[in-house]
Amino acid sequence: MSQGSRFPGFYKLSIDERRERVCKASGLDPADFNQALTGGGLDPSTADKVVENVLGIYGLPFGVALNVRVNGTDRLVPMVVEEPSVIAAASNAAKMIRAGGGFEAQMAEDLMISQVQLYDVPDRASAVRKLEAHRQELLELAATAAGGLIARGGGPREIEVRDLGDGCVVVHLLVDCRDAMGANLVNGMAEQIGPRAAELAKGKLGLRILSNLCDRRRVHVRCRVHAKALTLSRGGHVVVPGEEVLDGIVQASRFAELDPYRAATHNKGIMNGVDAVVLATGNDFRAVEAGAHAYAARSGRYAPLAVWRRDGADLIGELEMPLALGIVGGTLRVHPVARAALALMRVESASELSQVAASAGLASNLAALRALATEGIQRGHMSLHARSVAIAAGALGDEVEAVAQDIAVAGQINVDAAEQALARIRNA
Ligand code: MEV
Repeated sequence: MSQGSRFPGFYKLSIDERRERVCKASGLDPADFNQALTGGGLDPSTADKVVENVLGIYGLPFGVALNVRVNGTDRLVPMVVEEPSVIAAASNAAKMIRAGGGFEAQMAEDLMISQVQLYDVPDRASAVRKLEAHRQELLELAATAAGGLIARGGGPREIEVRDLGDGCVVVHLLVDCRDAMGANLVNGMAEQIGPRAAELAKGKLGLRILSNLCDRRRVHVRCRVHAKALTLSRGGHVVVPGEEVLDGIVQASRFAELDPYRAATHNKGIMNGVDAVVLATGNDFRAVEAGAHAYAARSGRYAPLAVWRRDGADLIGELEMPLALGIVGGTLRVHPVARAALALMRVESASELSQVAASAGLASNLAALRALATEGIQRGHMSLHARSVAIAAGALGDEVEAVAQDIAVAGQINVDAAEQALARIRNA
């Protein structure tokens, strides 16, 4: 089984040929993979058991980012995203990063936070002391709601007590969720310890729910890119030398560090990569988004999740963010495409999945900054966007590429121009 992630010319293959290549590389059974991807993987009657008032299924493109190497292992990275150029850009940036040794990733910490709110606490200081003194008892009580998690090596690990003022004390239960995202697990444990915590604090019991600001479950990714690899060339000619591109990216990073308006867009570029992997693997992207942006604002000022610095002739990128992902439980159990995505990636733990998703985020960020710091985003973006516009105008099969080229060359990427181009092609 050869797990590589470099497939030159992959984009030129048909969908069937691409499936064949990735199955061969990752050891997947092509029949199983094809079946999983047919029709988006979920049938209406299964969907009807997942959520309420189901009318049908909503499809999105499922692609794969190439060239990704994380901690010395090649990964095929499944991405579900509707925006043209995200997958190509991540693959292209991953190739530059690969030349500098690939991504180095690890979990900085791996604990989920569940909160128990206590209010109308008459003496907060003594409540905090009492709750801390009963830490072991609360952990043991939480463990009784942990189900099979303890046998899998996880479970409640720590109790933290925070005095919020205004009669309010909150207990944080920190839980090692192993390969589960863990929302249901930690909510259950918070509900289990809630009444006893309220009794100890002599307060009223409020909410018992996880925190999506899971800043104790953080992933850290670092990469090194040689200046030469950043060179922007067109038709064999250097348009912007790598050294200049490197400085432009460092300046772009500084801009995001100085300005929350820019930081939001910078982080959106990171989430292009992260969310696409989160969606492909059936994980909760709303939770990931909430955590990422709350973490970005943790200092009181919204900041970039990834920063870029010069190190001699190299560019160093570093990303740290909270990421609560699972490879077991939840929607994953019923969604064949999510299972196929995990198999394609060959991740064996939730932490490996987080490391790959964050690497896709850092690659997406690099691709966006490199484009923005040189010729601007529109050139690459709009030529790919032209295909969607061609489809919206009714182009089919080979017409899509022909119409897209026509409107891109004319610099008229809109549905009216695409309809006219389509009519010309059909009349020719
Ligand atoms: C577009 O989806 C993402 C970008 O706006 C990110 C950025 O500006 O860094 C290009």
